[in-house]
Amino acid sequence: MELIRGTDIYIKVNNVRVCYNDSGDSEIPILFIHGFPFNKDSWQPQVDFLRERHRVITYDIRGFGKSELGDEETSIIQCADDLIGLMDALEIPKAIVCGLSMGGYILMNAVHRYPDRFEGLILADTQCNADTPEGKEKRYQSIEKINADGTQEYADASLKNLFCKNTFENNSALVSSIRDVITSTPSKSITSTLEALADRPEACPFLSEISCFTLIICGKEDSITPVAKAEFLNSTIKNSSLVIIENAGHLSNLENPDDFNHAIGKFITKTLSRF
Ligand code: MLT
Repeated sequence: MELIRGTDIYIKVNNVRVCYNDSGDSEIPILFIHGFPFNKDSWQPQVDFLRERHRVITYDIRGFGKSELGDEETSIIQCADDLIGLMDALEIPKAIVCGLSMGGYILMNAVHRYPDRFEGLILADTQCNADTPEGKEKRYQSIEKINADGTQEYADASLKNLFCKNTFENNSALVSSIRDVITSTPSKSITSTLEALADRPEACPFLSEISCFTLIICGKEDSITPVAKAEFLNSTIKNSSLVIIENAGHLSNLENPDDFNHAIGKFITKTLSRF
């Protein structure tokens, strides 16, 4: 699969030059936050699906794609502030926001601190848990390895975990496009975000505060944030529903875009039917 870019627009958010795409038109926009270590182009199938009927915004998290890393230490809290900063800069009081994996960590942090900015949440292939001590250790080992040898080996080691068996074996175009995205991301962005991921706060205690409609999505064969993590989110968030995507691993929006799009399309229609 070729990941096609939209028209890039740049804006200053919290002292960092952020690159975003903005297409379509609607009162409540749909905003997407990508996972680690990818960029906004990973939402292309969703942008193509939604932009006829909705305003759709994708952006590169600081350090990824075409956004600057900035001088401050990266943190999930900072990334959540960037999300709100981008919404402020674009004068968007409220949006339906979808975050995949790290995008979900950022979204859960933002909704805890700025609940009034969200009309609906889509939490895809993510979890509310902080890293375990073993998980943190693994991230620090990856940082050392990347500092010593660069990102090629890191990319190869990551690929197998990102996809379900069928995608990995039969969709080489998608697998190699994701490999290219990882290896073209600056090492410094990857290592500082690995630190941010290791240090991220637990979001589980705040889930019961979420009051807006929430859709939880998980690839059936996601081995990074498995279905049990999605079930926990679904059992803890009040107005939530869960969709398991067949034939998909951690990158469910790219591995099975038809089912992913069907799920978000239905959710967006339901959420906006209150207007
Ligand atoms: C992601 O896809 O964003 C990462 O797998 C998140 C993580 O490493 O915890």
